[in-house]
Amino acid sequence: MVDVLLGLQWGDEGKGKIVDYFAPAYDIIARFQGGPNAGHTLYVGGKKVVLHQIPSGIFHEGIINLIGNGVVLDAVTLKRECDTVKSFGVDVHKNLFISERTNLILPTHRALDKAAELAKGNEKIGSTLKGIGPAYMDKTGRNALRVGDLLDRNFTTQYIKLRLKHQKLLDSLNFQEDINAWEEEFFECIEFLRSLNIVNGEYFINEKISAGKKVMAEGAQGSMLDVDFGTFPFVTSSNTISAGVCTGLGVAPQKIKEVIGVTKAYCTRVGSGPFPTELNDETGELLRKIGSEFGATTGRPRRCGWIDLVALRFACMVNGVTQLVMTKTDVLDSFSQLEACTEYLVNGKAQNSIPFQMTRVNIEPVYKKIKGWETDITSNNTYDALPEKLKTYIAFINKEAGVPVKYISNGPDRDQIIEVK
Ligand code: GDP
Ligand code: IMO
Ligand code: MG
Repeated sequence: MVDVLLGLQWGDEGKGKIVDYFAPAYDIIARFQGGPNAGHTLYVGGKKVVLHQIPSGIFHEGIINLIGNGVVLDAVTLKRECDTVKSFGVDVHKNLFISERTNLILPTHRALDKAAELAKGNEKIGSTLKGIGPAYMDKTGRNALRVGDLLDRNFTTQYIKLRLKHQKLLDSLNFQEDINAWEEEFFECIEFLRSLNIVNGEYFINEKISAGKKVMAEGAQGSMLDVDFGTFPFVTSSNTISAGVCTGLGVAPQKIKEVIGVTKAYCTRVGSGPFPTELNDETGELLRKIGSEFGATTGRPRRCGWIDLVALRFACMVNGVTQLVMTKTDVLDSFSQLEACTEYLVNGKAQNSIPFQMTRVNIEPVYKKIKGWETDITSNNTYDALPEKLKTYIAFINKEAGVPVKYISNGPDRDQIIEVK
């Protein structure tokens, strides 16, 4: 049986914290897409840790953490991250497993990402520049090198062949940076990668499922960044939605049970692209300040705005969300009035759905005003003790999304989470 936990907005919904909280109920936590563009923040014994490649179950003894075939893997980031988790006493040789079909991010993918963004000028995606797009292009273009290839004697020859191909592209984009140092580091780190548990991921996970083990598939990015259903072309290069679990781990759809969707109580986006409810005013600034909205991977300030229920309903639909977790609820504690976007005016016409493209039309959000609870909820731990106005906000989100809010998160710590009754 597989439950899925994923983001319903533009990423950074607090997935890492929630996976870490739910992890003890599972035997395996598996990443199925994305790569080091992800930054999942956890607090372990009061210490902040940001995970980019390793699943967020890694700090729990006895839980298997699997990097699935749908992920793109940067050996350098992985090595660095393994060193970090080792300093917390985690034995990655024991509880981290990597599918042999996982695609490798090469130094030239990072260079190509940078060169492509530079070439786009004002139209840049705002990529994290981790090489995600070029690595997935080599996967669908059938050129990629995969983790299993590291065990082949011909790996270096294959690498050189692909590198030469990339070099031609880099030359055509007039990319001048010297990447020799990146390559040196890459070769050091793949030695380490070879020493980890490399498995046939699809048999590995299906055998565990058949033996009655419980799997949580951990999403990265968010539904509005999905390559098919997000705000294209301002998206990432993978299927971030629940369908990505099947292709990214090799599990069949009927094995999936709960789809837990994580949404902030408001909304953020980092990087370029449409964001109808963005607030370029002091309210937006206040959300950024109170919510510490700065990218966990790049440190960039996140764009902030009110919750977008048109996007939330869309995300619930394409994912088949069965329950919601609303995070960062405490960030709204001091607001006397909140707003929630219930529909769009697209070129002046009311619309309840996500338009095919959102850059060449004018989108005006229509807001419903809601009274804030103006109470500090960060030390609350029961639903009953929550302010009535917050209960009304939860019930409103519930009704608008058409999916029950099962938990709210009221702070970054592991235990700051409340089950909704
Ligand atoms: P992810 O990418 O979805 O895992 O989210 P990030 O880690 O990038 O960003 C979420 C940020 O919000 C992190 O700094 C978390 O520590 C923090 N966070 C998570 N849940 C809460 C919450 O309920 N309240 C507050 N104030 N912060 C939270
Ligand atoms: P987590 O898992 C927020 C955004 C980038 C950029 C676009 C494409 O922490 O929620 P890419 O590097 O994939 O080529 O960037 O997607 N992006 C994210 N935004 N959270 C993430 O991951 C993101 N991963 C990518 O900012 O706009
Ligand atoms: Mg993040």
